[in-house]
Amino acid sequence: MTGSLGPFALDEVYLGDSLQLLREIPPESIDLIITDPPFGIRFRAQRENYNRTGARVLEGYQEIDAGHYGEFSGQWIQKATDTLTSTGSMYVVSGWNGLKEVLAALDNAGLTTVNHLIWKYQFGVFTRRKYVTSHYHILFAVKDPRRYTFNKIHHYPEDVWEIKREYWTGKIKTPTKLPEELVERILLYSSNPGDIVLDPFLGSGTVAAVSKRLGRRFLGFEIVSDYHAFARRRISGTIASGPEEKSRSAEGGN
Ligand SMILES: C[S@@+](CC[C@H](N)C(=O)[O-])C[C@H]1O[C@@H](n2cnc3c(N)ncnc32)[C@H](O)[C@@H]1O
Repeated sequence: MTGSLGPFALDEVYLGDSLQLLREIPPESIDLIITDPPFGIRFRAQRENYNRTGARVLEGYQEIDAGHYGEFSGQWIQKATDTLTSTGSMYVVSGWNGLKEVLAALDNAGLTTVNHLIWKYQFGVFTRRKYVTSHYHILFAVKDPRRYTFNKIHHYPEDVWEIKREYWTGKIKTPTKLPEELVERILLYSSNPGDIVLDPFLGSGTVAAVSKRLGRRFLGFEIVSDYHAFARRRISGTIASGPEEKSRSAEGGN
């Protein structure tokens, strides 16, 4: 529900480091966090990593060195937990390689992990000597396991979600982005209109854009200036939000 966000305006996204900015959010003011933090692997937004027109991929993605991923995850998850209301929830997207650090950080922050969702997508990166990774983990954690929002919109809500990645032809894009369908599903289950939704690692701004479309209030942070500018334009509707078509993509090779 709407309240004061300290120095931040509701329905705004800010340029800066989440580890700093999260501290400035008043405690217990956020209803839901949905986020896809940087990976703890060598990820570069380079055109050769992607089966797409590289010139349209914004560069400068901030990754975290694998050796510091536990410390990084512990810090942001603790700060983010402090911002949640007593009935608040958090969804964290994680590749399998950063998973143990994220799970430990959720536990250490005192959250209860309610579900461990699998997002199965199409077309992982081609491999020769190992299986193709074609899923992400999404950890659904709450502050109080007796009191949290869960709108049971399907009779039998399974924990494996098969959702295609979006392919945005002909548009400038950021190198990683969540499908709007996935964010929409989380918002419908775990928030109500008017709730405040935070994404501390905005990227292209999917969480903020879909929150706005569904009548939720939002706040977001992003450290790369080009991504922040892209997210602002997307949220304000000056660039189209969403894919032009869904087709082949070779993202997410971790
Ligand atoms: C995996 S991407 C998020 C993609 C996003 N979910 C979307 O749909 O476009 C993670 C983002 O976190 C940003 N980032 C990395 N470290 C950050 C920090 N300390 N503070 C804020 N943003 C950061 C990266 O630049 C990147 O854009």
